[in-house]
Amino acid sequence: MTASATTGTTHAEFSERLLKGSVKKSYAPIVDIDWDAPLDPDKFFLPPKAVSLYGTELWDKMSREQQIELSRQEFVNTLSAGIWFENILNQALLRKMMHQDPTARATHYELTELGDETRHMIMFGKAIEYVGAKPVRPRLYQRLIINLLPLGFWGSVIWVAALIGEEIFDSIQRQMMDDPELQPMVQRLMRIHVTEEARHIQFARDGLRKRVPHMRRLNRIWVSNLNGAGGLFFRYLFTNKVPYARAGLNPREARRIARNSPHRREVQVAGFAPLAAFLEEVGLMGPIARRLWRRTGFLPQ
Ligand SMILES: [Fe+2]
Ligand SMILES: [Fe+2]
Repeated sequence: MTASATTGTTHAEFSERLLKGSVKKSYAPIVDIDWDAPLDPDKFFLPPKAVSLYGTELWDKMSREQQIELSRQEFVNTLSAGIWFENILNQALLRKMMHQDPTARATHYELTELGDETRHMIMFGKAIEYVGAKPVRPRLYQRLIINLLPLGFWGSVIWVAALIGEEIFDSIQRQMMDDPELQPMVQRLMRIHVTEEARHIQFARDGLRKRVPHMRRLNRIWVSNLNGAGGLFFRYLFTNKVPYARAGLNPREARRIARNSPHRREVQVAGFAPLAAFLEEVGLMGPIARRLWRRTGFLPQ
């Protein structure tokens, strides 16, 4: 994942290494998670610190039961978005592959990644069912827009989009998956996801490190500023009104409080830090993007 791990290797060699790693360590969530184990009624579905209202006065006023319920609804909201994010990534990968050499190692790794993501979609779907909540579905017009996104994901855009979708969750999961307050199923799910996503992240990073130096100037300016839209998207997702309403809170008020919470900002900044450092390193953090990430609470003020 570090520069030293990728320098000196071609993208094909790097893909070959990831292909072998995938054979050694992959999961089948249908059997690798104990779906028959009962839920612990006193445990959280997201680490309390990762719940959007944690550290606010409103949070302290809520009963433990209501806090757990909000963690459950926010967990389901995140899984739901994860499912359609992996859907658009897979659509983009398949479309891109139509133009690629089917004998290339990178193509083979992309197919492996696609397979990982389809299993993650099953895992997330089963997890939503397991915790007994309803998925959060985007509205029809939102689904139409989401379905159009893969058409714009080609070249470097696809790898930047993949990193935005993967790295922020990844670093939040890494920091928090060992929390003893967490439901055992969620710990297991996060462990599986983190293991497989680590390879996806390395692949996307390696692709970008090798691509960016050859990008045309205008394209580079476009990609390095476009990524700031990720901040707007995550702010919307992380303070979606649906989980608040389902947990019996006033959705508008809860959203306002979460968006102004200093603790929340800290979690988001820490979650975005590794990706922010990478984008700076490869020269893909443009001034507009930086401003957007800051405004939406993912870079320090
Ligand atoms: Fe995934
Ligand atoms: Fe992934």
